[in-house]
Amino acid sequence: MLLRTEKLTKHFGGLRAVDGIDFELRKGEVRGLIGPNGSGKSTFFNLVSGIYRADEGSRVFIDEEETTHEEPHQIAARGVARTFQLLRVFAEMTVLENLMIGHHLHVEYSSFAAAVGTRGVRDRERKVREEMLELLAFIGLADFEAMQASELSVGQRRLLALGRAMAMRPRLLLLDEPAAGLSPVNVDNLLRIILGLKDRYGLTVVIVEHILRVVMDTCGIVTVLDHGQKIAEGTPDEVKNDHSVIEAYLGREMDDEEVRAALQA
Ligand SMILES: Nc1ncnc2c1ncn2[C@@H]1O[C@H](COP(=O)(O)OP(=O)(O)OP(=O)(O)O)[C@@H](O)[C@H]1O
Ligand SMILES: [Mg+2]
Repeated sequence: MLLRTEKLTKHFGGLRAVDGIDFELRKGEVRGLIGPNGSGKSTFFNLVSGIYRADEGSRVFIDEEETTHEEPHQIAARGVARTFQLLRVFAEMTVLENLMIGHHLHVEYSSFAAAVGTRGVRDRERKVREEMLELLAFIGLADFEAMQASELSVGQRRLLALGRAMAMRPRLLLLDEPAAGLSPVNVDNLLRIILGLKDRYGLTVVIVEHILRVVMDTCGIVTVLDHGQKIAEGTPDEVKNDHSVIEAYLGREMDDEEVRAALQA
């Protein structure tokens, strides 16, 4: 397994945000992770990526090596990258600089810092720059290379956040609501790019998304959380027809047309 958790648990005071989750992800999968607001999806990502410390008894394995107690930079070095639910880009930097910094911060910052100004570094900078430009072309932002991130549209910033995660050359990409705030056309475009990146770079992907169409159209297996617990797991069809899933969503979000339509389709 590329990623495996055993009894993954996280309390915040009396609240069990993530509650005993066993999770297995094979290399090459595109997995959906869904659940109502507050069901523990982002916390799950924060635990796997080392941002939160898991409770006693929890275990996380990447490539079957235990990473439960590792720091975020150690987990990143294992090839795990993520995007955040709230957009995080360096607004004052250009699009290309955002990717370059994403690369250096995670891939080779220490060796880079140690050798600033030397010829070897300039050569490597050139190579990294070429690689990042190729990545920008792949995500459709090549024309915006020199633009400040603050000038981009929401859709372009979402792409940039994806590009920044990709600049780390990950093997496992954790996407937290990558399509939030996008128009339907931009959602389709983003999905096409994510699947393209997966094929091109041999990625494994986990997508957290409230736009259920995204998950249902893209993922082979969908895992469903509610109150921090895994309540269902299966193909999109299985999950859509699972009574506990319908209840988890409809019990709280009767007014959400899209949820109902997606689940009952
Ligand atoms: N740092 C924190 N301190 C205290 N409570 C937290 C913290 N992070 C998350 N929680 C709580 O844990 C629960 C799970 O939150 P989480 O953000 O993981 O849910 P989510 O499934 O990502 O929700 P959403 O779909 O709204 O993004 C929520 O009740 C949330 O308020
Ligand atoms: Mg969340």
